[in-house]
Amino acid sequence: MTEKVADHEALPRLGPEFALDPYPVYRRLRESGPVQRVVGHDGVVQWIVTRYDDVKRLLVDPRMSSALTKVLDPGLADGQKRFRIDETLQNAMTNHDPPEHTRIRKTVVRAFSARRVEAMRPRVQELTDTLLDAMDGEERVDLIEKLATPVPVAVSCEILGVPVEDRPFFNTQMDDLMGAGTAEEKRAPAKALTSYMAEQVAIKRASRGDDVLSAMIEASEEEGRLTDGELVGGAVQLLFAGYLTTIYAIGAGAYRLLKHPEQLAELRRDPGLLPKAVEELLRFDGPVIPGILRYAKEDVEVGGTTIPAHSLVVLSLTAANRDPDRFPEPDRLDIHREDTDHVAFGGGIHYCIGARLATIETEVVLGSLIRRFPRLELAVPDSELRWELKSFARHIAELPVFPHGAKG
Ligand code: HEM
Repeated sequence: MTEKVADHEALPRLGPEFALDPYPVYRRLRESGPVQRVVGHDGVVQWIVTRYDDVKRLLVDPRMSSALTKVLDPGLADGQKRFRIDETLQNAMTNHDPPEHTRIRKTVVRAFSARRVEAMRPRVQELTDTLLDAMDGEERVDLIEKLATPVPVAVSCEILGVPVEDRPFFNTQMDDLMGAGTAEEKRAPAKALTSYMAEQVAIKRASRGDDVLSAMIEASEEEGRLTDGELVGGAVQLLFAGYLTTIYAIGAGAYRLLKHPEQLAELRRDPGLLPKAVEELLRFDGPVIPGILRYAKEDVEVGGTTIPAHSLVVLSLTAANRDPDRFPEPDRLDIHREDTDHVAFGGGIHYCIGARLATIETEVVLGSLIRRFPRLELAVPDSELRWELKSFARHIAELPVFPHGAKG
């Protein structure tokens, strides 16, 4: 099966207007049928599923494979070959189906224990407070650079057990990897990241700590649990899955709250509303856009349309979260919404391992920010905000604010 984008001129495209605001595009897609073929933002032809019930069902359907790199037909078009990435990175658990996925995930879940995650809360608060102290003396700051980024980066590094000082190196490589268009362009940054993590594993083997990497190394030494490649690939994934999405969620959350001053005021008056508000922010504007990628191992019927075997399928979590058949008035942010059963963290066997940690970080950072700066204000109009859509996520590149209001 060889498909060229040129053969699909007539298909809807997730173009630049999609990156700017995907929600009107989702609405049109959802209204025109349960599933469509589109040319994705990455130029790859794929099927997109946009309704909540269908997404929920397909998240637990074993015919939808996550092992893209294994199952992709070698005859596929160039665009689809980009899913063949570095051998070691392919070992991350997200790219496996059972039984490999079950084995790897068990080990990582054990290392990423609830105790270890809850124990991070005071540390998240401490990191946040230090950054807010530094913001206090500023007239105008970029919230992404000064707050939304440093907290998740430090937390991810500390919990995993890698030096936060290495951030400039791994951040650059990750940017290159996310921005790469072809498998060829992915090779160098993927190699740099896996070599870096292999080095970290070697250092940790010699001197263990109370961190996730040490716990994973321990597990890998038990017979048949985790190969070296799975250890390194899994650790790279934990680092980046952990901080990129959380930065994006905090950034979008701060922006959305600032655009809804009456709900922001309520949150300031009653911080008890915060956990629900964070869930609603994740429903309203989660970062995983356009969605998570699967491969149909067999023909799969969705609402009367058949997705043929061997197709790439995007389960659009963010479109599902705005489905009016599930969430009344879905395009309205409502921190009092009772039904918060969103799918921003996926579902089924690949449900996000870091969901609790990400939620703690978002709650602590946003809650502390709005308490500390009661006059916080956006410093630029919406037209000056730059939204970026790379690889699997969408985010605001910079969020300039006046911590003490426009009039200082
Ligand atoms: C707001 C922040 C986050 C969002 C929106 C998010 C979203 C997701 C989603 C949608 C999936 C499912 C992928 C799939 O089914 O293909 C996932 C999986 C995963 N996430 Fe997150 N995530 C976030 C934060 C984190 C954090 C903080 C960590 C770790 C420190 C993390 C680690 C992982 C891992 C390891 C997986 C793979 C699980 C598996 O394949 O079994 N994530 N995440």
